[in-house]
Amino acid sequence: MSKKGGTGTDKTRLVHAGKGGDRHHGTITTPVYHTSTVLFPSVAALKQAKNTSGSVTYGRYGTPTTFALQDAIADLEGDGACIVLPSGLSAITTALVGLLDSGDHLLMVDTVYNPTRRFCDGLLRTLGVQTTYYAPDRDIRDLLRDNTRAVFLESPGSLTFEMQDVPAIAAAARERGAFTLIDNTWATPLYCKPLSLGIDVSIQSVTKYIGGHSDLMMGTVTAKGEVFDRIHSSAFQLGLCASSDDCFLALRGLRTLVPRLERHSNTARILAEWLSKRPEVRRVLSPVLAHDPGHAIWSRDFTGASGLFGVILEPVKSTQIAAMLDGLRYFGMGYSWGGFESLILPVDPPHRTEVPWRETGPLLRIHAGLEDLDDLIDDLDAGLARLNQTA
Ligand SMILES: Cc1ncc(COP(=O)(O)O)c(C=O)c1O
Repeated sequence: MSKKGGTGTDKTRLVHAGKGGDRHHGTITTPVYHTSTVLFPSVAALKQAKNTSGSVTYGRYGTPTTFALQDAIADLEGDGACIVLPSGLSAITTALVGLLDSGDHLLMVDTVYNPTRRFCDGLLRTLGVQTTYYAPDRDIRDLLRDNTRAVFLESPGSLTFEMQDVPAIAAAARERGAFTLIDNTWATPLYCKPLSLGIDVSIQSVTKYIGGHSDLMMGTVTAKGEVFDRIHSSAFQLGLCASSDDCFLALRGLRTLVPRLERHSNTARILAEWLSKRPEVRRVLSPVLAHDPGHAIWSRDFTGASGLFGVILEPVKSTQIAAMLDGLRYFGMGYSWGGFESLILPVDPPHRTEVPWRETGPLLRIHAGLEDLDDLIDDLDAGLARLNQTA
């Protein structure tokens, strides 16, 4: 468990948070502690460690490397305490399991990351929790029931990038005594601080921008007081932990988060604007663009944007899409996002129940990496030429 406590702006905090320092012989990094077992010199010391929160007692409960990362993330989130988990999805499921009991009702945004949806329709249902999906722009007040224990948000939504009015939803839920949780992976806590918008639980897939190098899987949950204690306890009961090696990599990722995100963001905005002028493109999905329906909310609640957005092409044959994507030089084709390399993914029609997907053109998801912008534009330009030639 970690507590907040840094000073300076985010840019400064990210350089200094969770540093090795005096506890580690002055090393600038916090070392990787490989250990399951911690030895105590006496019964009194063993008992004291067991009863002191934040003590190092056993590998699964966290090493000094884990605690340094948790401190740094809580610092960046601006409030509360943080726990790291082995993946972004496990952070989501652990938080939901920690806050919901059999007989409870959950309001889940319809545009949520699909594996989160699968968890709600699968294990969570088996555990006796009923889920209702709501449209991302829905006024949720008349959906809240007496047994609604939690409202889950993801803004912008997975694949389709719809923004949600986070403060309004948080206020409505709070009035009825329901917890609010948000998957904040797209913005990272650098560009959106959910706890300051009234949300109870902020969740990150660290796998994406915080890791930043496509070489680790990890998630975090940040919350305050009793809400944090419940989720922390559920993580411990489930036996979940992240490796110290991965915590070290995530801490290293944090050091460069600011300049990386600035570059991802700038490249993505220019690519999105360039694509939106192309005749092959029906619509670009990104709240950063002035014409996007979510632009006003994004400008109000976020201080920046990351490098992920969607593109709906005019209807074409699947062979044309293959010709475009198969020949790309710099855009890799693969799942995930947030790493140094640009990625492009053809996406199946998104699974929605409240806002059915009616677009007929193919949907692509683009992650703008750290490559040279002109090279990326040339790559897409050549790809669209291949798409046209294959017609
Ligand atoms: C929005 C979002 N949330 C959560 C996750 C899950 O993260 P992880 O892959 O670290 O489990 C993903 C993964 O793609 C995602 O896109």
